[in-house]
Amino acid sequence: MYFALPEEYRISAPDELKNRIKEAKTKLGNSAFILAHHYQRAEIVEFGDAVGDSFALSKIAAENANAEYIFFCGVHFMAEAAEILSTDKQTVFLPNPLAGCPMADMAEMDDVLLAWETLENFGGDKKIMPVSYMNSTAALKGFTGEHGGLICTSSNADAVYKYGFSNREKLFFFPDQHLGYNTGIKYGLKPEDMVVWDFSLDNGGLTNEQLDKAKIILWKGHCHVHTNFTAKHIEETRMKFPDVKIVVHPECPHEVVKEADAFGSTSFIVNFVEKQPPGSNIAIGTEINLINRLGMLYPDKNIFELSGTTCPVCANMYRTTINDLAYCLENFKDIKPIQVPEDVKVNARIALERMLAVH
Ligand code: 13P
Ligand code: SF4
Repeated sequence: MYFALPEEYRISAPDELKNRIKEAKTKLGNSAFILAHHYQRAEIVEFGDAVGDSFALSKIAAENANAEYIFFCGVHFMAEAAEILSTDKQTVFLPNPLAGCPMADMAEMDDVLLAWETLENFGGDKKIMPVSYMNSTAALKGFTGEHGGLICTSSNADAVYKYGFSNREKLFFFPDQHLGYNTGIKYGLKPEDMVVWDFSLDNGGLTNEQLDKAKIILWKGHCHVHTNFTAKHIEETRMKFPDVKIVVHPECPHEVVKEADAFGSTSFIVNFVEKQPPGSNIAIGTEINLINRLGMLYPDKNIFELSGTTCPVCANMYRTTINDLAYCLENFKDIKPIQVPEDVKVNARIALERMLAVH
């Protein structure tokens, strides 16, 4: 896809762009609603009518039937989820259409369908429940709904596992192996209960015996931002700051999650930081824009990024600028909105509504 902003929006000064955003918002009144994910740039978050993690934002999108136009400052799968949950009278825009999520793209439908063909020999729909992380394509959400499964986010994964295992024997978890694994361990499973399905290999690179025994089959996907963190970063941080509190996102590998003081969704991290007393040293293993914003919000706490060196930026979240937002708000009538085909939407909505119900 090619996308370039008209020159007028590329060269305008930040103050002018901010004024134009304010004016466009005032003109649109209640008919426009801006959702901003926690990883967005600070100047975008400033304009969010709601700021949150992917679960909170999808809930707000589902509940906010009054706003005719939803501007989702996040990545593509989030805007798709909002479009699936919104009414026919609402239209959803992604201000920078190039903002995707590489992890969501790691579970391609052809590979998923091929894997499911094999898993039908191990019980299929009767025994295995597909569970898709919110970070997935609408098509995968549709597949999940069609097979009796549901969506999870990092803030409701525990409840989703409970639901899954009360209804079926096994889970097939997409696309983030780390969130799937960390939630499995928290649920009380053993490492040997979980296997990773490598979609580039025959039979997922697994033996039939492994598939038969597994309680969770994890898709081999990962987030390149969160897999930057290592147990060594934790060890070094604790040596430097013996009283440090370390909080990480569950997309980090288990060796990191297990050594941290706490782990959870972006909202969990925000609440965790809020609760620490002034003067605390707090190391965070997640996306850098959120960490920097928390640092600005709590100048009385020493908040820093866990690795100290890797600059864990989500380049896709970072794509959306005030230039994009100004352009989108002023020209949305000429911009292609997010559209999910009706046949995909029906089952994807079922999977998302199940998620909202089991939280
Ligand atoms: P949350 O569900 O915590 O918002 O995370 C979304 C995400 O993309 C994390 O990398
Ligand atoms: Fe995707 Fe990782 Fe960016 Fe989250 S941080 S949107 S999982 S690439």
